[in-house]
Amino acid sequence: MRWPISQALFRLCVLRNWDVSSGLSRETSLSIRTTAEKDPTMSQDTIKYLLSESDQPKSWYNIQADLPELPPPYLHPVTKRPATADDLAPLFPMSLIMQEMTREREIEIPEPVRDVYRQWRPSPLYRARRLERLLDTPAKIYYKHEGVSPTGSHKPNTAVAQAFYNMAEGVKKMTTETGAGQWGSSLAFAAQIFGLELEVYMVKVSLEQKPYRGGLINLFGATVHASPSELTAAGRAILAKDPNCSGSLGIAISEAVERAVTTGAKYGLGSVLNHVLMHQTIVGLEAMKQMELAGDDPDVLIGSVGGGSNFAGLVFPFLGQQLREGGKKRRVIGVEPAACPTVTRGKYAYDYGDTIHMAPIAMMHTLGSTFIPPPFHAGGLRYHGMAPLVSKVVELGLAEAVSYHQTKCFEAGVSFARTEGITPAPEANHAICAAIDEALRCKLEGKSQTILFNLSGHGHFDMQSYIDYFSGKLKDIAVSQEEIAMALAGLPSAAG
Ligand SMILES: Cc1ncc(COP(=O)(O)O)c(C=O)c1O
Repeated sequence: MRWPISQALFRLCVLRNWDVSSGLSRETSLSIRTTAEKDPTMSQDTIKYLLSESDQPKSWYNIQADLPELPPPYLHPVTKRPATADDLAPLFPMSLIMQEMTREREIEIPEPVRDVYRQWRPSPLYRARRLERLLDTPAKIYYKHEGVSPTGSHKPNTAVAQAFYNMAEGVKKMTTETGAGQWGSSLAFAAQIFGLELEVYMVKVSLEQKPYRGGLINLFGATVHASPSELTAAGRAILAKDPNCSGSLGIAISEAVERAVTTGAKYGLGSVLNHVLMHQTIVGLEAMKQMELAGDDPDVLIGSVGGGSNFAGLVFPFLGQQLREGGKKRRVIGVEPAACPTVTRGKYAYDYGDTIHMAPIAMMHTLGSTFIPPPFHAGGLRYHGMAPLVSKVVELGLAEAVSYHQTKCFEAGVSFARTEGITPAPEANHAICAAIDEALRCKLEGKSQTILFNLSGHGHFDMQSYIDYFSGKLKDIAVSQEEIAMALAGLPSAAG
């Protein structure tokens, strides 16, 4: 029996000469069929490689167990001596300090953390078949979609872990900084799950560009302040010099660290540190299983690099396998903005982690702790330094870095959105841009290589940047050598 609505549709189709089975015009229906006939794989090949909740990894991977050489230790910002666990204790709970220093290969993920992860993990791995067709490349492009998390990026992978360990050690309040707002909203989500109070210092220009991220932080019960703020001595000092300062991650870190030590709270960092990178390895560990499901093995691994955590999360488990077992040497590419070219143009040196010099000094690629990147839309990539472990991996020749201007990245992001249907975060556009370049290289060389990149987040809160891109307002900002040299002149003297 036909339902009345179906009958009406049927009559309409006959009347208008539409295809009855699809309800589309005959021409559209025909063109879809001919595309499918031309490319018989179109409707049959797998697009998503999914794992079940029970396949979720039970441990994180620590690359410190397998690296032939480790980064030198953190230094105390005042004494410039190697920082001890006690030096770090005012900032972090002891379990995270131990994770920072351990060389154990596998660290068990606590049950309550895995329970929260199950809300969105394992995240899907996609084969970008439509993007491949658009590029007409023999390369196979895969991406791990971290934008499916509650706040839309990879950041909850460490936020949930950090909030859990703080709660377990009796901490009541945390402070943090955030650039794009992805980290701040992720820690806000995690903090409310584990009953912690949270205060977030968000880079002023990012909060202005993305007020809804601030709203999301509030939604999860945390407070958010534009940084530099009048609430801290660090913020007041910066504002005294430049009342219009647009802020930077380095400044926001100084404010959050100051608030933690002066209010008896603990501090959480969304990237850079060893334990943060380790929490993110759940991404790569899942991706390894999913690539196996796909019957494929990446030749090229790509991630955008701000502080280095989504990049490390994807690539470290693959690098670890390579270091332990030998075999195929994969190309590993970190992608950064040309407006904040930490690895490609910075110096590998000991430097302060923040602008006011309260956080530990680390050996890393750096543009100098006083470097304030020009305001550009990938707010999460505006950090002057790089994770010491990522820097070390680059120094050891295990990974390389490239940089792109923002308009090329947005162009790549638009092609991705129009083929894959996912709106990428501006940070993730950097990884997409490199993946496209690699796929085009494969086309030129006639090679069918396998490319895997980390789609580190969705861009649903970043539509203003896309609007600006389409109206031609986004500019490519060049950083002069003088600017970098000036900031590098402030490297810590005794350690440099
Ligand atoms: C979506 C997204 N990708 C990448 C990054 C860069 O950070 P990291 O290098 O730690 O992954 C950020 C930082 O906020 C981000 O929000």
